[in-house]
Amino acid sequence: MELPPNVHAQRLAGKVAIVTGGGGEGEFLGLGATTAILLAAQGAKVGILDHSKERGDYTAGLIAGLGGEATVHVADVTDPASCVAAVERVVDAYGSLTTVVNNAAIVGNAGTIADGDLAEWAKVIDVDLYGVLHVTRAALPALCRAGGGSIINISSIAGIRGMGASAYAVAKGGVQALTRDTALAHGRDGIRVNTILPGHIHSPMGSLGGESVRDLRRRSGMLGTEGNPWDIAWAVSFFASDESRWITATELAVDAGTTQTTPLSMHRYTASTDD
Ligand SMILES: NC(=O)c1ccc[n+]([C@@H]2O[C@H](COP(=O)([O-])OP(=O)(O)OC[C@H]3O[C@@H](n4cnc5c(N)ncnc54)[C@H](O)[C@@H]3O)[C@@H](O)[C@H]2O)c1
Repeated sequence: MELPPNVHAQRLAGKVAIVTGGGGEGEFLGLGATTAILLAAQGAKVGILDHSKERGDYTAGLIAGLGGEATVHVADVTDPASCVAAVERVVDAYGSLTTVVNNAAIVGNAGTIADGDLAEWAKVIDVDLYGVLHVTRAALPALCRAGGGSIINISSIAGIRGMGASAYAVAKGGVQALTRDTALAHGRDGIRVNTILPGHIHSPMGSLGGESVRDLRRRSGMLGTEGNPWDIAWAVSFFASDESRWITATELAVDAGTTQTTPLSMHRYTASTDD
């Protein structure tokens, strides 16, 4: 695995981070794994919280190979008790907690509002929205004890645009509302809470549709270049660092401008394969 350039090994020294869904496998890593790796490569100690031990161990092995520090904490974000236990283990391991990245999510297969499966709707909202709530509640006491910290919630542009994403979109919209509310409730504790909205990046979750769709994904952004999970991990790094000390309750779309334009404006780029 090759790190992106410009990694400053001390940028996050002294930070202790939990990354939910930080597990990975193979060479094609998702956002959780790249985030855990980039935080660790910049000096943070990282607790990887994942319900898959194998995936957690895989990312931890990559971090160890880079000389970074990470431990794996098997927990299900839908189970409040397991979130509390995971946070306690991270604090036991590293002495404090300063940073939480709520990344774990599923897309699910909830179907449409008219005839979708309600049990699947509940499952997606349980993982993607209640999971953020449970981990945040579990982490808040430790963040307060640390004198403040940064919570970074990973939403999606599906939370702000009609994309046919059904329960996933509803959960992600809820994550954005929860971000603002938590930022207000805990601003005076020195806790910043921000949302990142990844766009159409090339990732294991976002790789459906084959090469022609991949090319359209690339061309649908103003920049016309392909985004990848490292692009999200860099944005997380900024919110995890003290460089963002005066930024809270905000939403950052990391999407090459996709959500700031219209299909008609982009037609000249998306109608053909000519750039
Ligand atoms: N990949 C994309 O294109 C894209 C686009 C927009 C937003 N996002 C968001 O980015 C985040 C990461 O997505 P990704 O595709 O990179 O996934 P990822 O590769 O980070 O994998 C998700 C991880 O979450 C873990 N997980 C799933 N359910 C869990 C649970 N109940 N408890 C604990 N761990 C659990 C899985 O084991 C897996 O390791 C998600 O919040 C997703 O909604 C992704």
